[in-house]
Amino acid sequence: MAFSGTGKIWMNGSLVDWADAKIHIASHVIHYGSAVFEGARCYDTPRGSACFQLDAHMRRLYDSAKIYRMEPQVDRQTMTAAVLETIRENKFKACYIRPIVYRGYNTLGVDPSDCPVDSAILLWEWGAYLGKEALERGADVAVSSWTRAAANTFPSLAKSSANYANSQLIKMGALADGYSEGIALDTAGYLSEGSGQNLFLVRDEVLYTPPVAAAILPGITRNSVITIARDLGFQVREDMLPRELLYIADEAFFVGTAVEITPIRSVDKILVGKGRRGPITEALQAAFFDIINGVRPDTHGWLTYVSPGAPQKALQSAHASQ
Ligand SMILES: Cc1ncc(COP(=O)(O)O)c(C=O)c1O
Repeated sequence: MAFSGTGKIWMNGSLVDWADAKIHIASHVIHYGSAVFEGARCYDTPRGSACFQLDAHMRRLYDSAKIYRMEPQVDRQTMTAAVLETIRENKFKACYIRPIVYRGYNTLGVDPSDCPVDSAILLWEWGAYLGKEALERGADVAVSSWTRAAANTFPSLAKSSANYANSQLIKMGALADGYSEGIALDTAGYLSEGSGQNLFLVRDEVLYTPPVAAAILPGITRNSVITIARDLGFQVREDMLPRELLYIADEAFFVGTAVEITPIRSVDKILVGKGRRGPITEALQAAFFDIINGVRPDTHGWLTYVSPGAPQKALQSAHASQ
């Protein structure tokens, strides 16, 4: 969906009009992919707009920057406050949040040390990433012919723009072959993740997900889903998983800020389980969506309200009266 092209973008400490949020073609990031970024979501809850796991996203942003020896001009607290300010300024009830830290304009060459480390925060409205229908019916996906980057090449713990060159190959290949997503293996042939989402499998009521060492981005939704699953009494194992487990799983699903929790209906044209959303996927979706929509109590403190005050007081008094 094309951008509306309106509203404000935060750039290096100032709110500027969408149309004016520009950088020079000679900026380092354009030539060398030298950026780290985040993707978070703000939801419209009965107690006001709330960002899901904002602190975890901002922590990962600063971790990514550290891995790439980038020092943002503002600290994490200031950047977090800027996210909330930008949401208030744009009057979004719900939106996707994209903070980005990038090497800017000064000189060009592989060594970025003479270029400034600039930052921006942009927001837009973004619905179900693989379509609303996929949330219920599931997505048809394929194992990608592209693998994730080998260890000690492109660090997968950093959410770096450079990593998304690989993601684009996975995604475009899947779409060209008529699938909605691709699942990448790591260089040893074990399951890794989708182009922009983590993967879970269910067999005999146990949940399995590839570990951090399988070239995955350590997803914040992945962590949240592991917590929710354990809260619901399920066992979760983070393990190296062979590709063929996909074909004999009872259920499979993607998780991520964009896809939220999206069932996988088939892999390589082989039906997963009964070829529709399974009961454990559905239970996890129900709990997850109730938390992000503010319907179920936020017992893990995952929601940050955009306009504190009345909504937070309501939350505290609701807790106090329990
Ligand atoms: C490659 C990749 N893996 C996994 C994820 C899921 O991470 P999160 O749940 O933090 O959005 C994303 C999304 O950012 C991603 O791009």
